[in-house]
Amino acid sequence: MPLKLGVNLDHVATLRQVRGTSYPDPVEAAHLAAAGGASGITAHLREDRRHMLDDDIRRLRTEQILPLNLEMAIHPDVVALALEVGPPEVCLVPERREELTTEGGLDARGQFRALAPVVRSLRENGAEVSLFIEPDEGQVRAAVDLGAPAVELHTGRYCDRTAAAAEAELVRLRRAAQFAYEQGLKVNAGHGIHLGNVEGILTIPRLHALNIGHSIVARAVFVGLTEAVREMAHAMYRYPLPAPPP
Ligand code: PXP
Repeated sequence: MPLKLGVNLDHVATLRQVRGTSYPDPVEAAHLAAAGGASGITAHLREDRRHMLDDDIRRLRTEQILPLNLEMAIHPDVVALALEVGPPEVCLVPERREELTTEGGLDARGQFRALAPVVRSLRENGAEVSLFIEPDEGQVRAAVDLGAPAVELHTGRYCDRTAAAAEAELVRLRRAAQFAYEQGLKVNAGHGIHLGNVEGILTIPRLHALNIGHSIVARAVFVGLTEAVREMAHAMYRYPLPAPPP
């Protein structure tokens, strides 16, 4: 099955929020992303509502342009909205108000007690729940123990590093993806991926989808959103690429 591309549209909403306008509209962006070959739309509803708003999530869900993957932390009002809206996929992420973006993976083991009831209620509501974790075997095991059917591996460390350090991080990502797959989990990946580093990501085995936002929206400023999505989807056609021997 080809590697799917989930397009994160948070920064379309960011652009709207910085000026308090009604445009650009994430729902219109979802149509353009679909035209470029996106397989899904990802949106992060933050506690501080700095980009996506509750109404964006409702509209992205009800208009059914593409399947919605809702990223969220376990804040009670966000959980309530997720249960109301019923997205087919939910990705649980850590969240701190002062961070620029989601900076690290979820501590699924350390937060086990807080996560367990949320994972359960979202699953009972019909969502495929994924945990955004570092590529670490212990975190994968915690996801299994929590009953999450999917994980999203945090690729930020790989994407932020220089070439030499990046290769070590890629090895971690490859091992974690294989391990998660062997545990029966669906394996997604995301964070910091752009056209210049996606090739390494394509050497990670067993991936179902990549979730990519910032680089696509940034590229869209120059070439338009449909074309920016098309470029990334095109780069991903080569999946899987062979990994260098260990
Ligand atoms: N996946 C998760 C769980 C995220 O939190 C983010 C950032 O919102 C992304 C993917 C997309 O990351 P980027 O915007 O760097 O492509």
